[in-house]
Amino acid sequence: MNFVEANGAKIPAIGLGTMTLMDAVCVEAVETALCVGYRHIDTAERYRDESEIGEGLRRGLRAAHVEREDVFVTTKVWRDQLAAADFERSLDQSLKKLELSWVDLLLVHWPNPKVPLKETLDFLCKAKRDGRAKHVGVANFTTPLLQEAVKLASEPLVTNQIEVHPFIAQDKVLAACRTLGLSVTAYCPLARGKAPGNDILARIGKAHGKTPAQIALRYLVQQGIIPIPRTAKPDQLAANLAVFDFNLSDAEMAEIARLKQTGLRVVNPPHAPRWDN
Ligand SMILES: NC(=O)c1ccc[n+]([C@@H]2O[C@H](COP(=O)([O-])OP(=O)(O)OC[C@H]3O[C@@H](n4cnc5c(N)ncnc54)[C@H](OP(=O)(O)O)[C@@H]3O)[C@@H](O)[C@H]2O)c1
Repeated sequence: MNFVEANGAKIPAIGLGTMTLMDAVCVEAVETALCVGYRHIDTAERYRDESEIGEGLRRGLRAAHVEREDVFVTTKVWRDQLAAADFERSLDQSLKKLELSWVDLLLVHWPNPKVPLKETLDFLCKAKRDGRAKHVGVANFTTPLLQEAVKLASEPLVTNQIEVHPFIAQDKVLAACRTLGLSVTAYCPLARGKAPGNDILARIGKAHGKTPAQIALRYLVQQGIIPIPRTAKPDQLAANLAVFDFNLSDAEMAEIARLKQTGLRVVNPPHAPRWDN
């Protein structure tokens, strides 16, 4: 497994997304993922799958002969839980469901303008200091909010988890993350199934003996971005990890970059009419 380093964190370069994976499917997906080599699992209180993630982790650690310390587990606190007391409760419940004493990364899932950012960040950073989170970060933060968060946080923020795939232009916020030393975790890296059906990605893939999905993921990892594709299918789990044995040329990277003119955003914010990077 390759890693991305950011503000003191060493993050496995691809993770497993788990949103919408439920019950036994979720447990088995996490177990299989660990067995085929994943060392990074993404969940959230909001996904209502933390108990299953915990069970999958325990099974996977046993089956793959891996130590807990070698798996990077991320969870998130939802936007209606960002006030101090709610934040504490949410994190405690997440750890309880996961049956873990710590997560590797704790994220603010979405900003909430109704709660002072300083209040949320104080509790986020406290979770790092008291050992319940090895690292802390944010998700869905725009450039100005990210700059404010970095100033307010008493601990280093290590990632901004945002929507990134070949069909979206995120240049401004990607540049801000780089300047501030944060990694970028790409959610919906396959644009929820749009990437696997794209002709240009398919043509480029053919030249490398890879699928369009693998080209989309390679495009991200080659930029140091950490994709967290979601699937429960064993063949796709393995395929999504097999993107470290080839390189896209500068011309191929540029051709894929042009797809961002599509302007496709598959996730809409829960609180605002539109996005601004
Ligand atoms: N922070 C946030 O606000 C936020 C928001 C959205 C998502 N996320 C995180 O990001 C993760 C990924 O995003 P997502 O689940 O929305 O979308 P995604 O990973 O872009 O797309 C998932 C879709 O891609 C398909 N797929 C996966 N691997 C494939 C392959 N090798 N070939 C062909 N198709 C493939 C899956 O098909 P199958 O169903 O056939 O497996 C599924 O339909 C989430 O699960 C979650 O952990 C975070």
